Amino acid sequence: METLMHNKISAQKAIELEDKYGAHNYHPLPVVLERGEGVIVWDVNGKQYFDFLSAYSAVNQGHCHPKIIAALIEQSKKLTLTSRAFYNDALGEYEKFVTSYFGFDKVLPMNTGAEGVETALKLSRKWAYEKKGIAENEAIILVCKDNFHGRTISIVSASNDDDARKNFGPFTPGIIAVEYNNADALAEALKNKNVAAFLIEPIQGEAGVVVPDAGYLKKCFDLCKANNVLFIADEIQSGLGRSGKLLACDHDGVKPDMLILGKALSGGTYPVSAVLTSDEVMLCIKPGQHGSTYGGNPVACKVGIAALTVLKEEALCENSERLGKLLLNELKAIQAAYPQLIKTVRGKGLFCAMVINEHNGKNAWDVCVELMNNGLLAKPTHGDTIRFAPPLVITEEQLMECVSIIAKVIQHF
Ligand SMILES: Cc1ncc(COP(=O)(O)O)c(C=O)c1O
Repeated sequence: METLMHNKISAQKAIELEDKYGAHNYHPLPVVLERGEGVIVWDVNGKQYFDFLSAYSAVNQGHCHPKIIAALIEQSKKLTLTSRAFYNDALGEYEKFVTSYFGFDKVLPMNTGAEGVETALKLSRKWAYEKKGIAENEAIILVCKDNFHGRTISIVSASNDDDARKNFGPFTPGIIAVEYNNADALAEALKNKNVAAFLIEPIQGEAGVVVPDAGYLKKCFDLCKANNVLFIADEIQSGLGRSGKLLACDHDGVKPDMLILGKALSGGTYPVSAVLTSDEVMLCIKPGQHGSTYGGNPVACKVGIAALTVLKEEALCENSERLGKLLLNELKAIQAAYPQLIKTVRGKGLFCAMVINEHNGKNAWDVCVELMNNGLLAKPTHGDTIRFAPPLVITEEQLMECVSIIAKVIQHF
């Protein structure tokens, strides 16, 4: 009892400390986690939850995957950082591994997703001036409405989300948004001969797991090719098995000119991001023109290799595809039973979402609090949408237990 009391105070204390000393730039659910393994996380009181957010798809391989943690520990004891001022014995091995894994000539390693996106934007501008022949400072990057690519000034310049932009101006010029899932809108925008690149999330994650029509990505890719424009896929959230294929672009048989990866590239253990592209594009950047002190550090390299190896060894794309179909069908059945409460369910692989109608003054946040009380952690996005994205190591039995938690909460809502 005493321990329980002590732990309860710890949870409250942890929240108080964050509130008092940390920036208020997030609005977390009131749960304080201290341990994770596979699909399960535990709070400081020992209560167990299924993690249905997976740290925004960073923990695809499951919490604290032993092979990834082993790589992290082993390399941490040997050499952690050299900077890129010197060579290290892990980077080349990782670069060979990751480029052959995804079939690209070259990789540029960074740390966070936003840095990966910035890198892609810079690379495409360089390429536009030095290869495509666009006049200096005239290059345009096309993006999609309702995108989420991160939080830097240039990236929020590409956003149409008021919270992301308000009072952060002036913004980076040369970015134009076109409607998502509308190839005609892209075709129209491509009439501008100064377009260097088209940046797209193959499935829009933060917008609420918005899956475009089959064939849309291919049409966009073909339009880009016809106009000598780089097709850049931000697969930071949609990639690495999340949608039931290695990359969400694979659903349309598209190989992007530039691929941005992050999050699950380390299985949630370490910030590791990467931009992959051809020699023609990558070699536009010369020494001193771009980089990061930590980018390509030996720990990141070993962790990256381990995380990608686990993805293949454990057939996580296949598991995501199979159990994703099951999850979507089960969510559709719940929707059919409560159509006045659930507006839509959608998804691909273990990347699903449910759109909630406000009911008796309660909304998606209240549903998430009830899910939490019942042992399942999910988070609303855009007020009315709940994303369901468990680690890809989830079993069918665990998934069905989670479905019954969701059904129970919706039934009592
Ligand atoms: C599609 C996409 N791009 C970029 C980012 C930014 O990644 P990070 O938070 O690591 O900077 C995210 C993060 O959620 C994302 O979902």
